[in-house]
Amino acid sequence: MELPNLDKARKRTKNKVEEINYELNDLYKNIGKNKTFYVKTYGCQMNEHDSENIEGLLESIGFKKNNDMEEADIIILNTCSIRENAHNKAFGMLGRLKHLKEMRPNTIVALCGCMAQEEVVVSEILEKHKHVNFVFGTHNLYDLPRLIYENMHNVKTNICVKSVEGDLVEGLPVKRVSKFKAYVNIIYGCDKFCTYCIVPYTRGKQRSRKMEDILNEVNELKENGYQEVTLLGQNVNAYGKDLDLGYDLADLLEEVAKTNIPRVRFITSHPWDFTDRMIEVIKKYDNIMKYVHLPVQSGSDKILKLMGRRYTKDAYKTLFNKLKEIDGISITTDIIVGFPGETEEDFLDTLDIVKYCKYDGAFTFIYSPRVGTPAAKLFEKDETTLEEKEQRLYRLNELINSYSLESNKRMLNNEYQILVEGLSNKDGMMYGYTETNKLVNFKGNEDLIGKIVNIRIIDAKSFSLDGELVE
Ligand code: 5AD
Ligand code: SF4
Repeated sequence: MELPNLDKARKRTKNKVEEINYELNDLYKNIGKNKTFYVKTYGCQMNEHDSENIEGLLESIGFKKNNDMEEADIIILNTCSIRENAHNKAFGMLGRLKHLKEMRPNTIVALCGCMAQEEVVVSEILEKHKHVNFVFGTHNLYDLPRLIYENMHNVKTNICVKSVEGDLVEGLPVKRVSKFKAYVNIIYGCDKFCTYCIVPYTRGKQRSRKMEDILNEVNELKENGYQEVTLLGQNVNAYGKDLDLGYDLADLLEEVAKTNIPRVRFITSHPWDFTDRMIEVIKKYDNIMKYVHLPVQSGSDKILKLMGRRYTKDAYKTLFNKLKEIDGISITTDIIVGFPGETEEDFLDTLDIVKYCKYDGAFTFIYSPRVGTPAAKLFEKDETTLEEKEQRLYRLNELINSYSLESNKRMLNNEYQILVEGLSNKDGMMYGYTETNKLVNFKGNEDLIGKIVNIRIIDAKSFSLDGELVE
């Protein structure tokens, strides 16, 4: 049994990525017969989609989904490492599962996802959470049937985590949450190594799927009535760079648009890899949604440099302005406050870029040190107090929310198309998203779920809109 190792996971070679075609071993086919599973997912869309593969794998070996965790025969936690609070949530859940396992000792408890790739986490599990049956890493999803089988025959904690650059697995079964919108991976891993970020260690090197595999998946989704695909990657704009096949994200977007699936989205974009050709393709096709998530992280050149982001505030603004030329575009961002060494002046530069860009929305975070990343060492010498950082976050959010509201108000009385997703939390209301990814609540009936309808906006708030159906 080998523990995960961040030093090994940091290595990048020119070795060719191995492509694996998944096939289920007959030995495992019925091991889940008359048993049920419960998968709990933390973190980003990548994890959400991995859970769709995990559920697909579990069903392929006979398990059925159970919506009640307490009743399930196998419980899998698909975890996230991005910030400390994600860690805490997963460990909190492990505590709960300890009690559950005392009452139902035969329940299998497994942990996977990004936390499984961290040696500190796995050591803690081995020491303090002996009720966990096994841990499997982000590079080992396809090993799940084997691990369950082995566990049923030998009840030791089993660590199955590879600290490698990663391979590419095609043909994993998938049980999609939605019948009309789907995630499609286009590139795994990340080679940017922003100094605060754990992802390049937990997800391995940048590796793109072949365009033909992606197009086959999109075409199949379209034939099955899907209305929307979201092309997924930590940095989708780097798509194709590792393949040397002469195509990039601009080419891929164009080919996906040509399948005529009604809506094409893509996340997340890194400013460094955004080319003019990509912008032209987004402009050219009506079914490529006019929505870009463009993390800026900070507005201070000094902090951007310490973060290893590879662009300056001015370069970001130039790209932002080019994107703004796309008719009707909506742009959102991610911002970290309290990166080690961030002064009040640096923070004011961040407020400044927010004032300049007037984002449609933003995810904002307080810097959270991640063991093994370069910024964690800077954090040891950081003098800014948590209170100051919380104050900065508060000030930033006030500003962000005022611009979100402003951008939503500009939509008042206009008509937009939304893809209806389901019943909203509000009584008797339905909800869906505009092409620009804005949440709209409206009165309608359930027959509309999965359809694209016209809506007039009648009220605007910071985080959502109210609308009415236009016949
Ligand atoms: N601390 C705080 N926020 C982080 N992010 C990534 N790593 C950290 C960290 N260590 C944020 C970035 C990224 C988003 C997904 O999470 O803003 O874009
Ligand atoms: Fe993390 Fe930077 Fe890669 Fe995004 S681009 S996943 S922030 S290292």
